[in-house]
Amino acid sequence: MTNTATLNFNDKSYELPVVTGSENEQAIDIQKLRADSELITLDSGYKNTGATTSEITFLDGEKGILRYRGYPIEQLAEKSSFIEVAYLLIYGELPKKAQLEKFQNDITRHTLIHEDMKRFYEAYPAKAHPMGVVASITCSLSTFYPESQQPNRSAEEIELTIVRLLAKFSTIAAWAYKNSVGHPVMYPKNSLHYVENFLHMMFGMPTENFDADPVIVNALDKLLILHADHEQNCSTSTVRMVGSSQANLYASISAGICALWGPLHGGANQAVIEMLEQIKNDGGDVQKFINKAKDKNDPFRLMGFGHRVYKNFDPRASIIKDACDQMLNKLGVSDPMLDIAKQLEEAALNDPYFVERKLYPNVDFYSGIIYRAMGIPTEMFTVMFALGRLPGWIAQWKEMLGNKEPISRPRQIYTGHTQRNYQNIADR
Ligand code: ACO
Repeated sequence: MTNTATLNFNDKSYELPVVTGSENEQAIDIQKLRADSELITLDSGYKNTGATTSEITFLDGEKGILRYRGYPIEQLAEKSSFIEVAYLLIYGELPKKAQLEKFQNDITRHTLIHEDMKRFYEAYPAKAHPMGVVASITCSLSTFYPESQQPNRSAEEIELTIVRLLAKFSTIAAWAYKNSVGHPVMYPKNSLHYVENFLHMMFGMPTENFDADPVIVNALDKLLILHADHEQNCSTSTVRMVGSSQANLYASISAGICALWGPLHGGANQAVIEMLEQIKNDGGDVQKFINKAKDKNDPFRLMGFGHRVYKNFDPRASIIKDACDQMLNKLGVSDPMLDIAKQLEEAALNDPYFVERKLYPNVDFYSGIIYRAMGIPTEMFTVMFALGRLPGWIAQWKEMLGNKEPISRPRQIYTGHTQRNYQNIADR
């Protein structure tokens, strides 16, 4: 097997190195191409461009494989916990017992957010989307911890920033919800584990005792694991890109939260439920909406279907679908949205339009139904995604920093006017 590729252009030949990953993925390294030939590569949406080498997550979109640090997602979802997976992603290995206890303890001790930040929440309009609130409060953490802004931070400072962010983010997210419904915020409880504590801050009330249902705790823990990383997607690439300018962790993650918000990315989980509601309110004619999705003159897309990378199935969607069935059974909840979702899935999977384009349900298709059963409002769904993705973003930011990657700065092919002369306003 050769380890170079040859590019012929304008009677010249260029030898380009081929890089091979640990799963035998191959890439043509074009880093020196411009210096040698003045050519750049053009790849709108980075559909075929590797932006980095990474040791964190492997996915094979054709085979439906997803592994964090080598461990299959199916095993982690069944046997691990979200906090253990966060440790694995960020530090590269499964923690030993003492390491996990210390990590959990460190996170528990940092969950409080500065009292002054409460006033930020009060200043947002009642209808503020929680993603906007969470993104800006996350960025505001940098103003309370200015030491995080130093480009030459010590390893200890970086570790402290990571723990602070992991801990405070669940409080930030839960308080965004409390604020949106006009309820008093709940302070974190140090005696509770991460997921129970989050549910306590979401659904607890100062006047009542709150015990989270273990069925819900388990399902949420699993959902967070499934969302924890997904290599170089839109929001993760954003985190790495912003971080490459040496912006601090809080600012980089805040940018990632904004990127996640869009309906083509993490915002799809909210969009799925809105779509299912639309179908239900319209009389439940699933085929009508399948036809709309296929009609190129209609902007409607089947939300929760299709993926840039998975072209046979999304392994996370299979686990979530089962978890969804189990949870609704255990809670004794019947949700008409689930029936519509199942009909929609069946109709799409048997329709040549979706089959030919390899469009399958993605992670967001069933997650919204689980969140609904937990009592989480639709506008919070993407915040839940962010809560899960946080360790992945942090791991990717840390790796980018450790690799001393250069500032991200893509090039372009300019297609505008060539030089022309300014005209006085009277002559235009
Ligand atoms: N409904 C109908 N048609 C679709 C859909 C869909 N959900 N997704 C893709 N298509 C069609 C496109 O119209 C296109 O058809 P064409 O070849 O006839 O022009 C073809 O399938 C390929 O689609 P692209 O948009 O080129 O694929 P891309 O890889 O750029 O987009 C994306 C992937 C954004 C996920 C897309 O499938 C989509 O919009 N899905 C709905 C939103 C969604 O669920 N997003 C969540 C993704 S998972 C996540 O981010 C966590």
